[in-house]
Amino acid sequence: MRSEKGRFALLHAIAHIELNAIDLALDVVARFCDPKHQMPRSFYDGWMRVALEEAKHFSLLRERLAQIGGAYGDLDAHDGLWEAAQETGHSLDARLAVVPLILEARGLDITPSLLRQMDEVGDHDSRRIFEIIYRDEEGHVAVGAKWFRFLCLRRGISPSHEFQRLVRLHFRGPLKPPFNDLARARAGLTPGFYRALSSAGT
Ligand SMILES: [Fe+2]
Ligand SMILES: [Fe+2]
Repeated sequence: MRSEKGRFALLHAIAHIELNAIDLALDVVARFCDPKHQMPRSFYDGWMRVALEEAKHFSLLRERLAQIGGAYGDLDAHDGLWEAAQETGHSLDARLAVVPLILEARGLDITPSLLRQMDEVGDHDSRRIFEIIYRDEEGHVAVGAKWFRFLCLRRGISPSHEFQRLVRLHFRGPLKPPFNDLARARAGLTPGFYRALSSAGT
């Protein structure tokens, strides 16, 4: 993180996540738009807002990459997020469990330490972008948690148990602590959902 090269790689990796996140939000709208899903208009409005914010995050990071002398696409990137989209393409419940409530919630766990590292190296411009992302991502987890609960309660089943069942089916490996319990809880993702799936086993 102390070298320009290291920070470029970090910003590039996060830009890649944000670019995938645009597609993931729009994929929810397009893939699950059939009236058979019986979702209210506000569900789709929520995901369109998420897509808009992901596009803002990507644009901010692309500008920052240009400021430090590179561009998105300069480095290789992984396909993990899109693999998660394919793994959960058959089920809205599974999609919400894995994408906003596992992958985006992971961002809430990691970002505070990124903010600290940017402070340590004095990269205030990158820090400001991570602050915006952190605030918005809490909202994205909240959209996921709200509609996941809606789907479960409509079927009369326990949201936390259904979450654990779907994650064990569609997500590889245990969840790694430490968890940002406060930010997760502000988004409606309380420890009863994820503690049982933790590699710490508590
Ligand atoms: Fe984002
Ligand atoms: Fe997001």
